[in-house]
Amino acid sequence: MEIIILPNEDAVAKRSADLVESQIRAFPDTVLGLATGSSPLGLYRELINRHRDHGLSFQKVRTFNLDEYVGIPADHTQSYRTFMDDNLFKATDIDLSNTHVPDGMAENPLDAGPTFEKKIAETGGVDLQVLGIGTDGHIGFNEPTSSLRSRTRLKTLTKQTVEDNSRFFGPDEFQPKLAITMGIGTILETRRILMIATGDNKAQAVQDMIEGPISSICPGSALQLHERVTVILDEAAAQNLKYQEYYQHVSEIQDELVKKHRPSDWIAR
Ligand code: F6R
Repeated sequence: MEIIILPNEDAVAKRSADLVESQIRAFPDTVLGLATGSSPLGLYRELINRHRDHGLSFQKVRTFNLDEYVGIPADHTQSYRTFMDDNLFKATDIDLSNTHVPDGMAENPLDAGPTFEKKIAETGGVDLQVLGIGTDGHIGFNEPTSSLRSRTRLKTLTKQTVEDNSRFFGPDEFQPKLAITMGIGTILETRRILMIATGDNKAQAVQDMIEGPISSICPGSALQLHERVTVILDEAAAQNLKYQEYYQHVSEIQDELVKKHRPSDWIAR
C-alpha cells in the first residue's frame, strides 16, 4: 500500500482529485468505482471545480457505485443515487446513462447483486475504485465478518452503521437496515484503489486496515491483498499508525522519483 499523510481534509481532497483527474485525462472513458458518505465529498467538490474551470470532461466516463440502500426509491433524498446526482453527477457533463448504482428497489433484492456484477463485467471492469472506511472497518457495506471473497449482494447493516448513518434520517423516518453492496472480492478485482479517510473517528479503523492482520473482522484489511492501493489520510486519521514516519519518508522519496520520471504512476488499465 502507498500511504500518503497530509495536514488536513482540504489537502486530502486536492491530492485525491489529482489522482482521479490524471486517470480520466489518460483514459477519458475510465470506469470509476465510486463511494458515497462524507469521505469522498472533498474529492467530488474538487472534480466539479476542475470540470468547471479546467475542462476536465466526464462525458465518456462510466461509473459504478459501491452500494445502495434497500427499500427506498432512487429519488429518495437519502438514496445513494440522489447523493451522487447532487454531489457529483449533475454538476459535470457525465452522461447519466453511464452511471450505475445498485438497484435498491429490485423486485427480488437477491437478484440485484448478480445483475450489477454483470454490468461491471460488460464494461471491462473498474479501472479506479474510490473507497471510504467505516468506523468498524467496513468498506462498501461489507460489515465485519463479511467474506473476503464476497460478491455484490444483499447485506444487513450492523447497529453501529445504522447509528452512524441515522443523522441523515428524520427521527420518525424509515431508515433502511439492508443494502446491496459490492463484495470484497468485487472490490479486490478493481485495477486501482484510492482509499480516503479523515478525522479522529477513523484512526482505529485505519490502523487495523493498514497494520492489522488480514481479517474479516476489519474488512478494510483485505486491501492489503491488492497490488495497487493508495491510502490518503489527514493527520487525525493517521494518528494511530505505528509506522507513520516510514510512510512519510516513502512518500517524499517517491514524489521525487515520480517528478523525475513521469507525471504519474497512477494510471490504471
Ligand atoms: C459508502 C460506503 C461506506 C462509506 C463508509 C464511510 O458508499 O461504501 O463504506 O465509505 O461508511 O463513511 P463516511 O465517509 O461517511 O465516514
